[in-house]
Amino acid sequence: MGEPEPNPDPGPDLTPADFTAGCPAESGSEGDSSAPRLAAKLQHLKRALITGITGQDGSYLAEFLLAKDYEVHGIIRRASTFNTGRLDHIYKDPHVHDARLRLHYGDIADSSCLVKLLYQIQPDEVYHLGAQSHVRVSFDIPEYTGDVTGLATVRILEAMRETKLNARFYQASSSEMYGKVQEVPQTEKTPFYPRSPYGAAKVYAYWITVNYRESYGMHASNGILFNHESPRRGETFVTRKITRAVARIKAGLQHKLFLGNLDAKRDWGYAKEYVEAMWLMLQQDNPDDYVVATGETHSVREFLEAAFGHVGLDYRDHVEVDERYFRPAEVDLLIGDASKARTRLGWKPRTTFAELARLMVDADIEAVAAKPGDRGDQP
Ligand code: NAP
Ligand code: GDD
Repeated sequence: MGEPEPNPDPGPDLTPADFTAGCPAESGSEGDSSAPRLAAKLQHLKRALITGITGQDGSYLAEFLLAKDYEVHGIIRRASTFNTGRLDHIYKDPHVHDARLRLHYGDIADSSCLVKLLYQIQPDEVYHLGAQSHVRVSFDIPEYTGDVTGLATVRILEAMRETKLNARFYQASSSEMYGKVQEVPQTEKTPFYPRSPYGAAKVYAYWITVNYRESYGMHASNGILFNHESPRRGETFVTRKITRAVARIKAGLQHKLFLGNLDAKRDWGYAKEYVEAMWLMLQQDNPDDYVVATGETHSVREFLEAAFGHVGLDYRDHVEVDERYFRPAEVDLLIGDASKARTRLGWKPRTTFAELARLMVDADIEAVAAKPGDRGDQP
């Protein structure tokens, strides 16, 4: 069963000087000199590069790979505030001799920086998780989503070719590609029918990954992951929006929760378990595409029942529907068949739907208790 999120020691504060310069190079910065030093010192270790390391999956994958003795490099975006909250507990000052997690400034919208980083880091495995990953938001910024969620994949694949890097590549493909589903349950063979700019961008990224595998013999695999959640899930995705609201309502900090379509059904799993499937795909002799899912589907309404029910509340007393959260086109039902991942990778989910809802609510209750004065607006 899934553990509630630990409340780890935050570790040393991250400062900009701790990150290497990805693009553009900053002469005289720590970055340009620390990468080769690290390469010499830790060269016996396997080296992974993760785009999207500051996201939900990136942070779990970084933890997972560090536990497997990898040297882990991550690309982070420059921002005026720190966006490394999900990594603070595993980050060590790079001056510490055994620091195996290295962060580099960069942007997946910029191919020159990707070439430079790949050249500097020389990873054995590249996990491409970076994306504008919010489906509703993709309707508001479709062109940007096409660029960052779709084209970034070919930027990285081209950068790998240009640098003659013989690394294995993982593409974070999505069940959102099935959209208006053509088959139930969905398998690796189910045709795609995307219903959002995000879904369409992911279909491009999926096929360009297959194309580079077939054209250039690259070890490039697609993980077609169904929805996976955790206490680290972004606060505007429906499960986290709900569990955060449950904790705040229970604490008397808010009374109402406004949501969109309560009838949509999703195949929801636990993110911490899904990152292992990513790694397993890159350990296979041959690259391939795999569905990763629980094989169960539940409505948003059922998630509400599980989450509010866990603390003895009835969601009907608190939830109101606001059409603002409806999507121009909806994905009504997702349910995946992960038989191939089970037989070929030996992967299977362990945390049930009810356990997932409970562990997320418990983590949000803990977070509210740790910050009793926080009366910020709900997302
Ligand atoms: P997430 O929490 O939204 O993380 C997205 C990551 O991408 C963040 O680290 C973000 O950085 C980074 N990013 C966005 N734009 C970037 C840019 N221009 N340059 C560099 N980095 C950029 O997503 P997630 O839930 O971990 O999902 C990981 C991947 O799997 C995504 O590609 C998503 O589309 C895909 N996926 C997710 C699910 C799911 O259910 N979670 C299912 C299937 C597929 P900031 O922190 O700076 O924003
Ligand atoms: N976000 C959100 N907010 N969704 C809501 C709300 C709300 O207030 N109310 C109802 N929903 C419904 C959405 O309409 C959708 O049908 C469902 O809840 C799930 O929405 P999200 O949690 O935003 O996830 P998603 O399924 O659209 O996309 C996620 O999963 C994909 C895999 O299928 C994202 O993580 C994508 O990046 C990922 O590829």
